[in-house]
Amino acid sequence: MTATTLSPEAILDVLRPVCDPELRKSLVELNMIRNVTVEGQNVAFTLVLTTPACPLREFIVDECKDAIRTLGPVDAIDVEVTAETPQSVGLPDRQGIDGVRNIIAVASGKGGVGKSTVSANLAVALAQTGARVGILDADIYGPNMPLMLGVQGQPVEVEKTPQGQERLHPVEAHGVKLVSMSFLIDRDQPVIWRGPMLNGIIRRFLYDAVWGELDYLIVDMPPGTGDAQLTLAQAVPIAGAVIVTTPQTVALHDARKGLKMFEQLGVPIIGIVENMSYFIPPDRPDVRYDLFGSGGGEKTAGELNVPLLGTVPLEIALREQSDRGLPIAVSNPDSASALALTQIAKTVAGKVSVLALQPQPMT
Ligand SMILES: Nc1ncnc2c1ncn2[C@@H]1O[C@H](COP(=O)(O)OP(=O)(O)O)[C@@H](O)[C@H]1O
Ligand SMILES: [Mg+2]
Repeated sequence: MTATTLSPEAILDVLRPVCDPELRKSLVELNMIRNVTVEGQNVAFTLVLTTPACPLREFIVDECKDAIRTLGPVDAIDVEVTAETPQSVGLPDRQGIDGVRNIIAVASGKGGVGKSTVSANLAVALAQTGARVGILDADIYGPNMPLMLGVQGQPVEVEKTPQGQERLHPVEAHGVKLVSMSFLIDRDQPVIWRGPMLNGIIRRFLYDAVWGELDYLIVDMPPGTGDAQLTLAQAVPIAGAVIVTTPQTVALHDARKGLKMFEQLGVPIIGIVENMSYFIPPDRPDVRYDLFGSGGGEKTAGELNVPLLGTVPLEIALREQSDRGLPIAVSNPDSASALALTQIAKTVAGKVSVLALQPQPMT
């Protein structure tokens, strides 16, 4: 092969056919390749991904390098990888939160299936990739996110603006900004919220908290299809909903209901996470027991025509560490459940960027 003279133009030309595997468009046309420089036989460029948590980061870098090497001998290819997360738009009458790009609802029909666990781990796993992440604990009746993130009882700063408006400062935990009802109430006092009050408090958490710049705001929903879900979906543009389920049939039946509700409210379904899919005994990490039968999440996902984002095993360490305020993705990052949750976080981030850049027709 005769070597072409290396030049930024030649590099861009040879990269033009390389596509983003999820967006199925040319990286060059998507303006994801920037600052191409050539010095002698050394090539450098910046690859701007659509999320810092891109699950295909290595794959895309390798594709680019392979393409460049077809030009002839190259001494070094230096790729600086950065990311610019696109902004979800949502339905026209929804009011976004300044600085917040993508709001992800984590929901289920039934309680105790692991929504809060999935929310906490999605959030910290995304933060670990360099994304700016917040969690809104929308479980007003049973706010347990501060416990799960180890910041229960931490004092929370409420700032009064010159206009007399009260602004709540999120509490920082494991690199994630958290707002929860639990910071504002006495945990042992039962709180009785009526619909309009609930609506009001969720709207305050959304719009009056000092979130700053966020790539992702994860909203941990209460179980079911009630006022909180309605308030959220009617107020802000939601990038999409992640539905958590367990393999039991009842939970699947409820998940289906939750999924339908979001669809009716024009919220795209990112996919289903099947939690507690199988049991891994702590002394035998090589063994797995299918306690509830297998394949339920996959079947539901197939029936409802939404992706199965992943399956998370039941692990004792997950609950133990979670009770100590440590999400498993922080405490035991190499455990099977942490690996599954981290992979799910990346998949979710990838799908959110696709949804944001290629808005789906909404019903
Ligand atoms: N994969 C898992 N392995 C072990 N324990 C889990 C797992 N998922 C959740 N748990 C535990 O189950 C309980 C309920 O989970 P939680 O996330 O609070 O559910 P939800 O928010 O849906 O009510 C918690 O004690 C949590 O630590
Ligand atoms: Mg919960």
